[in-house]
Amino acid sequence: MKICVIGTGYVGLVSGTCFAEFGFQVTCVDVNAQKIENLNKGIIPIYEPGLDDLVLKNVTSKNLSFSTNLGQSVQHADVIFIAVGTPTSADSGKADLSYVFKALEDLAPHVTTYKVVVVKSTVPVGTCRKVSDFLAQHCSTELFDVVSNPEFLREGAAIEDFMRPNRVVIGSQSERATALMKQLYRPLYLFETPAVYTSWESAEVIKYSANAFLATKISFINQISDLCEACGANIQDVAKGIGLDHRIGSKFLHPSPGYGGSCFPKDARALLETAKEYAVALSLIEAGVSYNDARKHKMAERVTAHFKGNLNGKVIGVLGLTFKPNTDDMRESPSLSIIPELVKAGAIVQAYDPKGMDEAHHFFRDSITYCQDAYQAITGSDVTLILTEWNAFRGLDLKRMKSLMKSPCVFDFRNIYTLKEMNDAGFEYHSLGRRSSDYAPSSKNQKTG
Ligand code: NAD
Ligand code: UGA
Repeated sequence: MKICVIGTGYVGLVSGTCFAEFGFQVTCVDVNAQKIENLNKGIIPIYEPGLDDLVLKNVTSKNLSFSTNLGQSVQHADVIFIAVGTPTSADSGKADLSYVFKALEDLAPHVTTYKVVVVKSTVPVGTCRKVSDFLAQHCSTELFDVVSNPEFLREGAAIEDFMRPNRVVIGSQSERATALMKQLYRPLYLFETPAVYTSWESAEVIKYSANAFLATKISFINQISDLCEACGANIQDVAKGIGLDHRIGSKFLHPSPGYGGSCFPKDARALLETAKEYAVALSLIEAGVSYNDARKHKMAERVTAHFKGNLNGKVIGVLGLTFKPNTDDMRESPSLSIIPELVKAGAIVQAYDPKGMDEAHHFFRDSITYCQDAYQAITGSDVTLILTEWNAFRGLDLKRMKSLMKSPCVFDFRNIYTLKEMNDAGFEYHSLGRRSSDYAPSSKNQKTG
């Protein structure tokens, strides 16, 4: 079976490569000629663990190729995946579907034999119906079926998530198309991957609800973390204590400076817009979104308050810029809200990120100093600020760190150190949902964490 993937970004490139690994013939298409030229030279446009080796392997075996020629790639394909971006619109919180419909416009003239057009991009409910109507205006309805197949991979763990998903969701109203999708995902049935066969609408709502639920779960734990700080409880014990209840689950209970990334913020916003259109109140999701937006600002305020409101000339060593570890993606990263506030207030920011430095230049330009490693970033700093939980920051030589800093103060917004080790190393340590003062080595009431 031949596959054409339109849009060679995080989702298109990973899905295309994984389908090629399953043994299908895949062509990944993009309008960005530079990206395709680079891919043809073996240069991978994103950092995603394991992706470079898998691309190389499948290009070598001739299962995977890259092209800007959409027409030719579509003509040869049985299945066409649309994996272009659906960012927030410039003038509202709605998903901008212009890339999806531009791709359809480009592909429609090439639908001359039967094709299954699969919408993998995250799109609001009702879009697949519109896609089908759009194609019907340009080609015979005998020649295509539309399927909704939302993607649930996470950046940084994308290959594992694609190869071993918790589930596959197929929204279809054609048996022929469903049968073809089953064939495509057949390699996953060996691992007994559950599949949900449903309507277009349900598949579309599943994708947004999953992201909104997870985003709300994070806002929930971040709010409980605020309470822990105020009342002296320890968020790590609390998260463990509630997460062991299988109905709640231990995942996505890590407090943070706020969730970011290319999807949770934009998808939660888009879902709220959809709800508005249907005159339905999604107040829980709305509360989670506004809390998350405010939280990023609150994080900057915490640092400012440490200097009694005067950040002028203070040196802040920032560790981590990407929205999560194991990616170079900076989209809606908390660092993009926090750092500009600190800089605006007069702070000098020295930053390091293991993979995000190139991307960071596009956002911060010359407003910050870019460092070669974590130790350089904290050298001469009044405070170290940990924004992303990269493994490279988990085992820093605390003695060396202390000797390099002007004053030994750490704001750890990912809780990657224990209160005990930071206390023992002589740091003033501020983390989330845990009070440093609670750790007193000689105290009878000594707490964990
Ligand atoms: P991306 O911005 O990384 O990639 C999109 C690609 O599409 C770009 O390379 C762009 O040049 C290309 N493109 C745009 N218009 C085109 C056209 N007409 N023809 C050919 N190529 C075109 O986006 P992404 O992060 O991969 O996200 C894609 C979709 O998948 C979005 O709807 C997103 O919400 C969803 N999604 C993303 C993730 C993720 O982890 N990034 C996970 C699940 C779902
Ligand atoms: C998320 C979902 O997890 C994927 O299932 C989905 O496919 C994807 O969005 C999408 O639709 O694009 P991703 O954004 O790559 O994936 O990364 P996550 O691991 O979900 O993290 C998102 C944000 O939440 C990050 O900023 C992360 O730091 C934050 N987070 C995550 C927390 O603050 N606490 C947690 O416990 C977990």
